[in-house]
Amino acid sequence: MNVPSRVAVVTGAGSGLGRSVAEHLAAAHHRIGVLDLDGEAAEKVAADIRFNGGSAIGIPVDVSEHDEVRAAFDTVRTELGPVEILVTSAGISGFTPFEKISLDEWNRYLAVNLTGTFLCLQAGLPDMAERGWGRIVTISSAAGQAGALRQGHYSASKGGVIAMTKTVALEYAARGITVNTVPPFTADTPMLQEAQRAKQVPGPEMMARFIPAGRVGTGDEIAAVCAFLCSEAASYLTGQVIAVNGGAVL
Ligand SMILES: NC(=O)c1ccc[n+]([C@@H]2O[C@H](COP(=O)([O-])OP(=O)(O)OC[C@H]3O[C@@H](n4cnc5c(N)ncnc54)[C@H](O)[C@@H]3O)[C@@H](O)[C@H]2O)c1
Repeated sequence: MNVPSRVAVVTGAGSGLGRSVAEHLAAAHHRIGVLDLDGEAAEKVAADIRFNGGSAIGIPVDVSEHDEVRAAFDTVRTELGPVEILVTSAGISGFTPFEKISLDEWNRYLAVNLTGTFLCLQAGLPDMAERGWGRIVTISSAAGQAGALRQGHYSASKGGVIAMTKTVALEYAARGITVNTVPPFTADTPMLQEAQRAKQVPGPEMMARFIPAGRVGTGDEIAAVCAFLCSEAASYLTGQVIAVNGGAVL
């Protein structure tokens, strides 16, 4: 089958899951806008993709800032073309007992994880609607499905992402645009490794006991499913919560 090269924006692509997703989509011959708060990391990922024969640009952006998001998508359009694929992986995570979550902390989690996803979807959807073809995958979290201890702010933001994803899926289903969410339980990325170093979550062996598959997942395993959701083959799959989690939350 002749698979067209499309323009994909991946947020949080300077690290972890976003980076793996960008690499999978580049391997599928798509041109990648690598967006991240850490501009150097974004450029490094883009440079690695180019080194391997792909097409990518790195763009620094804070997804919680409306003007920065608009400017980043404009740059992608100018340099690579209209956006047809969007994966939102930019996010922050942390642990605070519920009664100790300050309003500033609460607002920051909502701003990055939920408003950031909202702003990116709004920035990406017009190109897709105009072309009658689009794929969106939001990265949410098992915390948004089932709750998580000391993550009242994080789980609320991710629960919001799941609900928003379903709503956008309904609004755009008849326009050739699919919108799904992938809520990881654990993936071995810098975010998880940092939480383990800080002893905020158990180490890999202990964590594996809570996962029916018996181990923590890799970014690659999650990215492969995201790439499928962005493919031509996934055209009738929308509004779904595709939990790539080794059976941890059913
Ligand atoms: N790793 C896990 O176990 C796990 C579990 C559940 C959900 N998730 C979700 O997966 C996504 C990716 O996480 P990861 O594990 O790859 O973490 P990571 O920390 O390795 O990567 C997250 C990336 O997002 C970027 N980022 C943070 N704030 C940003 C902002 N305001 N604007 C733009 N970019 C920003 C960071 O610079 C970083 O490069 C996150 O949304 C996270 O909540 C991860």
